[in-house]
Amino acid sequence: MQTVFSGIQPSGTLTLGNYLGALKHFADMQNDYDCFFCIVDQHAITVPQERLKLRENIRSLAALYIASGIDPNKSTLFIQSEVPAHAQLGWMMQCVSYIGELERMTQFKDKSSGKEAVSAALLTYPPLMAADILLYQTDIVPVGEDQKQHLELTRNLAERFNAKYNDIFTVPDVRIPKVGARIMSLNDPHKKMSKSNPNAKSYISMLDEPKTIAKKIKSAVTDSEGTIRFDREEKPAVSNLLSIFSLCSGKSVTELEQLYEGSGYGPFKADLADAVIEALQPVQTRYYELIESAELDAILDKGADKANRKAQKTLVKAERAMGLGRKRR
Ligand code: TYM
Repeated sequence: MQTVFSGIQPSGTLTLGNYLGALKHFADMQNDYDCFFCIVDQHAITVPQERLKLRENIRSLAALYIASGIDPNKSTLFIQSEVPAHAQLGWMMQCVSYIGELERMTQFKDKSSGKEAVSAALLTYPPLMAADILLYQTDIVPVGEDQKQHLELTRNLAERFNAKYNDIFTVPDVRIPKVGARIMSLNDPHKKMSKSNPNAKSYISMLDEPKTIAKKIKSAVTDSEGTIRFDREEKPAVSNLLSIFSLCSGKSVTELEQLYEGSGYGPFKADLADAVIEALQPVQTRYYELIESAELDAILDKGADKANRKAQKTLVKAERAMGLGRKRR
């Protein structure tokens, strides 16, 4: 059976972008693949985090994974810092990375531009991400469009390591959804929807209340044309809303275009809000049941055990290949 790995940072409540671009697709893969889903807390500390808030976010993300359909009996759900092999192989992957290629990462450029104090770890973030993936001999990595460049680098690092040392790592393929790979901000269709945007109206959080969702969608920017059709170049805002509608309702974009032919933006937005609320409602209900339960701790303990076992095997092979440790007599 092929292996799937993906990770999400616990840096605040997830947005509808995280859900539609990544999380929503994970549950569908559980029956066909051996799946590992990770809460990447070590990636989150590459930028300043408040200690107690981070711990809360880690728990919250675990609950969101399960509420979105991750079944702990089928998939392995775990916290990155509870599997030390990630940091260990991360260091080794830094040793095969070049500063130039890390500086070319758009996420590094975005997150560091204009800042005075940029952590070294923000630059070495991608080799840690490569380690996450390579430890599990991953075949497929489902992510949103913004992670594509990191995945290309992961493939390059795996190939470089395999060629230089020993053929240890499976070279993973990226899987990006056809619709929803890049959900855009509600008030600027040229920026991706992101929880780090200071304007809360620009994104829908997975835990927003129905009233808030309706309000945010009502105030989402459109254009002055007044027709509902998909055209990313000419009508980026409406196209973004159509993608969200399609993913939340299960109707295709073409179906929706036909359904709303001749209709104005008002009724379209009202129905879209209903579709988003309906899609998130079961996830939210399950989330609030889980968040306080000890069930979550047992799941994460079991996940860390399973992940540690698999990761350790690859780590030992990679250490041997690089010549780390001592030869026993
Ligand atoms: P993160 O935590 O920023 O996002 C988690 C997932 O959500 C996707 N995503 C989006 N998809 C569509 N539209 C959007 N607006 C949107 N915003 C976010 C992301 O593409 C991602 O799939 N570096 C990663 C975490 C990571 C990882 C890994 C992922 C660490 N190690 C190993 C895969 C494999 C990140 O910051 O994702």
